[in-house]
Amino acid sequence: MTAADPNRDRTLPEAEEKAPSAVVPGAPASEPPSLEEPTAPREPAPTKADQRPPEAVSPTGKPTGAPEDSRAQAGAYLTTAQGLRLPDTDHSLKAGERGPTLLQDHHLREKITHFDHERIPERVVHARGTGAHGVFRSYGTAASVTRAGFLAGDVTTPVFVRFSTVLGSRGSADTVRDTRGFATKFYTDEGTFDLVGNNMPVFFIQDAIKFPDVIHAAKPHPDREIPQAQSAHDTFWDFVSLHTEATHHVFWNMSDRGIPRSFRMMEGFGVHTFRLSNAEGGTSLVKFHWKPKLGVHSLVWEEAQIIAGTDPDFHRRDLADAIEAGAFPQWELGIQVMPDSPDQTFEGIDLLDPTKIVPEELVPVQPVGLLTLNANPVNFFAETEQVAFHLGHLVPGIDPTDDPLLQGRLFSYLDTQLTRLGGPNFAQLPINRPHAPVNDMFRDGMHQSADHAGPAPYRPNSLDGGVPFTAGPELGAYVEVAQPVQGVRARTAPASFDDHFSQARMFYLSLSEVERDHLTDAFTFELGKCYEQAIKLRALQVLANVDADLTARVADGLGLPAPAATVAPADVEPSPALSQIGRPWPTDGRVIGIIADESSDLAAVTDLQNSIVAAGMQALVIAPHGGTLTSGTVDPVIVQRTLLTTRSTEFDVVVVAGSPKAAPKMYRLLEEAFRHVKVIGGFGGAEEALAAAGIPTDAPGVVIEQDATRMLDQVVELMGEHRVWHRFPVQVG
Ligand code: HEM
Repeated sequence: MTAADPNRDRTLPEAEEKAPSAVVPGAPASEPPSLEEPTAPREPAPTKADQRPPEAVSPTGKPTGAPEDSRAQAGAYLTTAQGLRLPDTDHSLKAGERGPTLLQDHHLREKITHFDHERIPERVVHARGTGAHGVFRSYGTAASVTRAGFLAGDVTTPVFVRFSTVLGSRGSADTVRDTRGFATKFYTDEGTFDLVGNNMPVFFIQDAIKFPDVIHAAKPHPDREIPQAQSAHDTFWDFVSLHTEATHHVFWNMSDRGIPRSFRMMEGFGVHTFRLSNAEGGTSLVKFHWKPKLGVHSLVWEEAQIIAGTDPDFHRRDLADAIEAGAFPQWELGIQVMPDSPDQTFEGIDLLDPTKIVPEELVPVQPVGLLTLNANPVNFFAETEQVAFHLGHLVPGIDPTDDPLLQGRLFSYLDTQLTRLGGPNFAQLPINRPHAPVNDMFRDGMHQSADHAGPAPYRPNSLDGGVPFTAGPELGAYVEVAQPVQGVRARTAPASFDDHFSQARMFYLSLSEVERDHLTDAFTFELGKCYEQAIKLRALQVLANVDADLTARVADGLGLPAPAATVAPADVEPSPALSQIGRPWPTDGRVIGIIADESSDLAAVTDLQNSIVAAGMQALVIAPHGGTLTSGTVDPVIVQRTLLTTRSTEFDVVVVAGSPKAAPKMYRLLEEAFRHVKVIGGFGGAEEALAAAGIPTDAPGVVIEQDATRMLDQVVELMGEHRVWHRFPVQVG
């Protein structure tokens, strides 16, 4: 789960030696980068000495005599695919500085179209994911701000949800450090509405035209296609240290939010601001939130790494098992409602900038409905793989805003799905079919599975009685909010988009000590995996503009000097709602492992299992061997895991029943659970086994009782806090 270890760093760029010979195998390019962003145009760097392209031969195998690198990119200047030089690739062409993106922007469309079709057949991003069916029941509390029918009082709407990682290929591990997708398809009576969000409320870029750049930087290096599914490598840090609008999102990724315990324990965010309109035509600017009933919890980093090897399907399995067991995961949909002011800002926060949040302390999240996932797909490919979400799938009462990231996304998804799903008829796939009547006059094309009748798929017609008719808003038609657009057509961004650090600082200062430790470790780990000193130094420079203490600690871990800030760290108010720690949460669906063998009190083990299941959790018996445990006249106990087939990472809590026979794997299981600050329980004389495993029996979160029921009560109480964070005074994992 880790990138290759650069055991010797490359020389600093200032050093004399600039030869392309990489001192350590694995360096990303044929020469070290400069610390500052290069400013002098030049031809692309040559390939590394160990690399060579295929022979220059014709399609029929004849040598062409062309130089070997004749197929590579050429020229010092950025061009379109037609060789036209470009002045800007960072801003889409907009109608006014804060206006919508124009269809005329050929560079935007060409760049994103090409990107959309880069990977076949998996999704170009978010390839690794898993889905579930469910229902959404609205409370009616949003009816004053939106006329969307599915948000009216007590309406139940079927949904399909797909969770995903962003970077990894379809077969990559679930628990890598990454942002998670949280996409929901509401099959409403008015047409399908898709809320295509993430588990983090901000994004790396402010304009969709940068999406190919950030993904190219974060995906594996183009030559060796490593590392898989992670950001701990030079190209990612090269990009984000130069493109500092990514800073806030990078902080979220490096925090515990980047390694969720379960999809069931993740928040979701629509990220962008949407414009909602009510029956009277009044509009508001709104951000969507999903709040999990089980609370927001994460793995610790070492646990995430172990799981990536021992159970790469951990999150997938967890979701499917919970649903199968009837522990249906639930989230409340919430909205933050801001006035639709002409400048589209709130308390100085630019609502069109997707790198910014509105703290919940400023605008509370109001619950508007409940999502329950209650069924697993029957066929992964037909449903989870073929589902196609799109931000443009809207219903009356919900409009997009001119956020330039949102604007480009409106183009990208349909475009990419044409390739991924093999043509224009993917809306007819069972998982994508709306639950509202469809009469779109679209005809033919690959994989057409409708049998359209009627002689006149055009309008106006008289041959088919004029059908289909257009509808007015009173008949449920989608009519865009009449939002004024004005300004000079230009590739620019407003000055308010220039603040890249203040909210990253707010996020950092809002975390508890232990969360800050984790974040510091994550930065140190990721930058420690980079080969290039210049990139590490540049990344430290970005950190210095957020927080001096954090910078000093990461610099110390990297063995580099801590730079001073170039932009004075902002004076910000922390937002306590951003911390995951400090509140008790329900324990439904949590997993308790019970280590037992024939010497354990098997009747007590069975009673304990029953109590755990009755409390809405899972109880798995772990024994030295498979099959059953039998002793005397007591009913046999079925063994779900053996010491060989499991690791501590499968459990939220480990309980020892009596003193099972000494076994190194049992000791490892207990020692790991202790190190990962999990609650550990013991009953019926468990002291001996725990002491033999080196677990201090008086440590915080170690509960030992003679009686299993008394032990379980205390264990459940502690589990509400997720982990025993105060067990160790210093870093974890
Ligand atoms: C706020 C920023 C963004 C969020 C929250 C987001 C979220 C998501 C999610 C959740 C998926 C997975 C959908 C699924 O499960 O099938 C996805 C896929 C995708 N996203 Fe985004 N994304 C963002 C920005 C962008 C941008 C700026 C672009 C391009 C300009 C983009 C292009 C894509 C593409 C091409 C896919 C694959 C879709 C498919 O194959 O069905 N995304 N995104």
